Amino acid sequence: MSSTLNKNTSHLPGTAITAVDVVLDTAYQNISTAQWKKLFTAAKEAAIPQFIVDIFAGKPINQSENRPALHSALRNLSKTPVVLDGKDVMPAVADVWRRIEALCNKWVGVTDVIHIGIGGSDFGPRLAIEALAHVPGIESHGMRMHFLANIDTAELARILAKALPHSTRVIIVSKSFTTLETSMNAKAVVTWLKDSGLTNRQINKALYAVTANVPATKIFGVEEDHIFPFWAWVGGRYSVWSAVGLPIALQYGYKTFEKFLAGAHAMDLHFRDAPLEENLPVIMALALLHQQEKHKIKAYAAIPYADALDWFPKWLQQLDMESNGKSIGKDGKAVKHSSPVVFGSAGSNAQHSYFQLFHQGPEIIPIDFIAVRKPMSERHEALAHHRILLSNCLAQAQALAHGKDATNPNDVYPGKRPSNLLLLPELNAFYLGALLALYENRVATLGALWNINSFDQPGVEYGKVLAKPIEKALSSGSQDIQANDFIDAVTAARINFLNSQ
Ligand code: F6P
Repeated sequence: MSSTLNKNTSHLPGTAITAVDVVLDTAYQNISTAQWKKLFTAAKEAAIPQFIVDIFAGKPINQSENRPALHSALRNLSKTPVVLDGKDVMPAVADVWRRIEALCNKWVGVTDVIHIGIGGSDFGPRLAIEALAHVPGIESHGMRMHFLANIDTAELARILAKALPHSTRVIIVSKSFTTLETSMNAKAVVTWLKDSGLTNRQINKALYAVTANVPATKIFGVEEDHIFPFWAWVGGRYSVWSAVGLPIALQYGYKTFEKFLAGAHAMDLHFRDAPLEENLPVIMALALLHQQEKHKIKAYAAIPYADALDWFPKWLQQLDMESNGKSIGKDGKAVKHSSPVVFGSAGSNAQHSYFQLFHQGPEIIPIDFIAVRKPMSERHEALAHHRILLSNCLAQAQALAHGKDATNPNDVYPGKRPSNLLLLPELNAFYLGALLALYENRVATLGALWNINSFDQPGVEYGKVLAKPIEKALSSGSQDIQANDFIDAVTAARINFLNSQ
């Protein structure tokens, strides 16, 4: 691989590339120069350069829904026109930015914000709120930011026990505005406001929404000037850059939200403009493809050595597996490869959990080690602790790469276990934005390499459909449910058992 060695990477072997100050070191991928050449040739044969042009040009790359995937426009701070169906979308995007900023200045005396949404309407803002809370010296408006996703009332009860109803604001976030968990949780929160003595006028003042389905949102009762729109051309799991990310601006200020967008925008420009051989998302995608071809890997792990990024693997799971967890390609035929299982959690904690499997398990599981140069607190112990955190990260990667021989087979580490090292200069809104956009663009590249449409999710629908007759059977209380077109004998027996308790 040709590499751009600059002052940031000059100490690293010729396997490190820097973009937007984020270093990607693939030294432990164990991929030779000849193999990289083949991989870049494969990327050209799969028309990756044209695919990248098509994404940014708003071509309908989400072919099953005949839509573009234009989330990059949401962070296009340069406002260069992005034309869709003959119309520039940037004025509408910029209008939402203005409204977000205005809201940040308007909300005074708010103690609690309840953000109601699930999946892509939850993970992104939840991750960002958690991650940025650890940024030393970050401006914070000090609201309690609650995320309500689960239909399980345990989450609802926990939040409502803490929130002060008269100074709470509620943001209902749903692209479709048809998601059952979200609408039921929203109704429960409105009932709680009523029961707490708020008048209808006060409730209307407290309710906000972010959606691509404005009519349904109005029917629910959210006032038009409290609705922040986004658009069909933004996939739910790619939507944190829209007003779905409102909590980031409300908690940390509009400038911080803007920096988050700026980091992502910078990564987009890199993805769009860098040659394949220097393109971080493309290189990461090709490294994974190589490991699939070579080791038939079925899983990979993302381990951020940053407690603040503990939510990152959960966000990534939806991004990767909802985008590319498919067996059928764009041509309707079975694909050779698709998304491996993705998992992970913050290091060094993760080392004390499942790293045994990485080192000595029979499966090869590639790892993305994500580290941050600067300590992530201002405690007087920060530097000493941070050195230990980094040492652990480097040590694990080295141990996995080389392994260790021993006479006792139990003590043998086979080695040759591939990993990337991603190094952020520091953890702040800008680099968080860059990191998320790096993975979004990597997922899109993988989809293109595998010939998968990364922007639909037909596989999530069937279970939702079946849940309806099952819920009806459960609420009937009957212990005599028989198997039918929607409920099989096993499930009927389970329902009857539940109804008997
Ligand atoms: O069920 C999956 C899904 O459709 C995700 O793709 C989406 O992020 C989530 O549900 C929530 O959808 P919505 O934002 O429309 O409520």
